[in-house]
Amino acid sequence: MHNFDFHNPTRVLFGQGQIATLSTLVPEGARVLMLYGGGSIRTNGVYDEVKAALAGHTLLEFGGIEPNPTYETLMRAIELVRAERIDFLLAVGGGSVIDGTKFIAAGSLLEEDPWTAIFEQRAASVQSALPFGAVLTLPATGSEMNSASVVTRKATQEKRAFASRHVFPRFAVLDPTKTYTLPARQVGNGVVDAFIHVMEQYLTHPVDAKVQDRFAEGLLLTLIEDGPKALSDPENYDVRANLMWTATLALNGLIGVGVPQDWSTHMIGHELTALYNLDHAQTLAVVLPAMLRVRREVKRAKLLQYAARVWNLLEGDEDARIDAAIERTEAFFNSVGVPTRLSGYGLGKEHVEPVLAALEAHRLVKLGEDRGVTLEVSRKVLELAV
Ligand code: NZQ
Ligand code: ZN
Repeated sequence: MHNFDFHNPTRVLFGQGQIATLSTLVPEGARVLMLYGGGSIRTNGVYDEVKAALAGHTLLEFGGIEPNPTYETLMRAIELVRAERIDFLLAVGGGSVIDGTKFIAAGSLLEEDPWTAIFEQRAASVQSALPFGAVLTLPATGSEMNSASVVTRKATQEKRAFASRHVFPRFAVLDPTKTYTLPARQVGNGVVDAFIHVMEQYLTHPVDAKVQDRFAEGLLLTLIEDGPKALSDPENYDVRANLMWTATLALNGLIGVGVPQDWSTHMIGHELTALYNLDHAQTLAVVLPAMLRVRREVKRAKLLQYAARVWNLLEGDEDARIDAAIERTEAFFNSVGVPTRLSGYGLGKEHVEPVLAALEAHRLVKLGEDRGVTLEVSRKVLELAV
């Protein structure tokens, strides 16, 4: 196991009724801006509960943050933050609202253009950020308890990620009953996204990190067991609660400490969303199985461990076990309604080249745990995924 420094400052308030705790979580006297998406929070009681909990606070609102939040929209929120001298943000929604809030929190304090500073100058550009909390309504990204954010620039069709210790949420409120209203497509997306977050940190090469491996396998098994139940039995509290906590733990840093990490599927997936507007999880469901097939030699030992411990494939020839594990993975994604081929989304061979050009433009040409995912490897993966 490699050395690590694990620090996660996000406080989690989990369970039915926890939105009421906002009254004490949000600092007294703060000028608060509540940020949300396209309006789902008005249909499931979340909006009303947040307003009621913060009745004693100065509360302004900014709605309309879209899925795959855009720089263009977030800059309007930054203007509002500055004009109204906002000093605390509250994200209420899914990963897009929380990611958008992170960009606003950091961007509001930057003198230069936030896109240029954060995505082009990079490194130390984020030195501080406004404090913020999150009320999560969609278990998927883990954004509620991590320091990452992904933002899209509509004008140039670019989707870029950043991470900074300054953008951990101060707290995250997770009420599983608020996920009952999720459309089936978003339930399936959430299950697949969380699954692949685990895979990006688990399916590399062994470093004898026993706890990380077994935690990761536990999260995968929970998704396999409860993901389909959330679709067939949408108001089952225990199922929703287990999925919600699983998605948070899949990307709050815990299983990734001291182990190699891949993330090539995500980087290629972001380009697919930017160019063709697929949902984030749809891109991952397309790329991951092909990535595992193309990279089976460097990942062989972990693929066999995954086959045995997650899919109970213990017998027969090694290659047959690996093939079967990848097929089971694909069948699982399909079973929660997320197709695993580009053709499932109306895309074909002709759509591969622009993705490679975008990867090159963003210098994403040595991806993966061993930097072995060159443009040639990405090409093979995408061609196999058609
Ligand atoms: O906008 P509203 O009306 O709220 O509707 C949303 C949206 O249309 C709806 N929704 C959310 N909660 C609901 C609900 N509908 C009914 N009932 C509820 N309780 O779901 C739709 C999708 O929401 P979105 O926030 O876009 O989904 P998700 O949470 O999957 O977030 C995806 C974004 O997160 C990024 C992705 O790239 C993408 O931009 N990611 C962020 C990561 C991170 N910060 O660590 C890691 C991930 O790998 C990912 O890249
Ligand atoms: Zn993801």
